[in-house]
Amino acid sequence: MHLLTVPLLLLALLSSVHGANFTNPLRSRDGSDPFIVWDGAVGSGYYYLLTTTWNDVRLTRATTLEGLKRGETRVVWTDTSPSRCCNVWAPEIHRIDGTWYIYYSAGNKQNLDGQRSHVLKGGTTTWSNYTYAAQLTPDWGIDGTVLRVAGREYFVWSCFPRPNLQSLCIAAMASAVALEGATRVLSEPTLAWERVGNPVNEGAAAMYHGNKTFLAYSGSYCWTDSYQLGLLTYKGAGDPLLASSWVKTGPVFSSANGNFGTGHNGFFASPDGTEIWNVYHATTARTGACDGNRYTAAKRVNWNADGSPDFGKADTIGTVLAGPSGE
Ligand SMILES: *[C@@H]1O[C@H](CO)[C@@H](O)[C@H](O)[C@H]1NC(C)=O
Ligand SMILES: *[C@@H]1O[C@H](CO)[C@@H](O)[C@H](O)[C@H]1NC(C)=O
Ligand SMILES: *[C@@H]1O[C@H](CO)[C@@H](O)[C@H](O)[C@H]1NC(C)=O
Repeated sequence: MHLLTVPLLLLALLSSVHGANFTNPLRSRDGSDPFIVWDGAVGSGYYYLLTTTWNDVRLTRATTLEGLKRGETRVVWTDTSPSRCCNVWAPEIHRIDGTWYIYYSAGNKQNLDGQRSHVLKGGTTTWSNYTYAAQLTPDWGIDGTVLRVAGREYFVWSCFPRPNLQSLCIAAMASAVALEGATRVLSEPTLAWERVGNPVNEGAAAMYHGNKTFLAYSGSYCWTDSYQLGLLTYKGAGDPLLASSWVKTGPVFSSANGNFGTGHNGFFASPDGTEIWNVYHATTARTGACDGNRYTAAKRVNWNADGSPDFGKADTIGTVLAGPSGE
């Protein structure tokens, strides 16, 4: 290589706005309930992807979104305890006070009545070994996620405060592995678009942008094409545990372009931190799906003039898209 080529190449890489092209789906089977995080500096970090496998908790990593299709995969958890061996759903990885934790739902082999939210403790790097830490919800609870408001952590999960009214619950976190204080109902499926098939609120995911705090969540039953995203926007003041501190809007992201049941999303930052991306699942079946036939897809979030997110429409599968900034 000529002496001049190296700096020019570096300059070209550093000034590129978009990442490598990619196509959806990122995972074509068992792509349900996806969660992605970027960890590391531009040029030396990885995306980590987690989805529901039913049997274990695994991380897949790659330096580009496209690379996640064939990324290095590591199973970090399986469990033989009868109460939490099975129906392992919706793992999410979060860093709290410098340590990585994985929150997930699991229950027994016989039915879905035993589903509870649990947490694994890792180390200072994502690629750590993980040990079982705690069960977080005493009662039925799935799709747990971590919300931060004013420097405090809250746990938000899907619960049944009343029979047949699958809702979002919230409690303050005493630590990364324990809840404290009262559990409150944050959102119930009261609107028509949240009640198709069954009244459901689940799959919450927090997003922070321009001093605003948002919680996306999924409404309606997964075996319908009305499974879709809604949005709770924090009013900027008031106790985050109270539903009255949030404004509900939606639906904000629904079936489109041959993708049905676009929901249970996560948010991740681009490697350079300038963009927020929505990672979601969908199916090609018009009936929707609650099983492993859901694929993982990603799309950049845009912003409206009033600071609210514009999720756009799910792209036709196979469309060539520019990857996140800084890849
Ligand atoms: C990325 O996709 C765009 C649009 O399809 C295309 O114009 C461009 O050449 C692609 N870039 C690379 C590096 O393949
Ligand atoms: C994880 O566990 C394996 C097997 O016990 C061990 O070889 C490895 O060093 C551990 N890794 C870390 C980062 O502790
Ligand atoms: C966020 O809030 C701070 C403090 O109120 C303010 O200085 C800053 O301009 C705000 N930023 C945006 C993007 O609104």
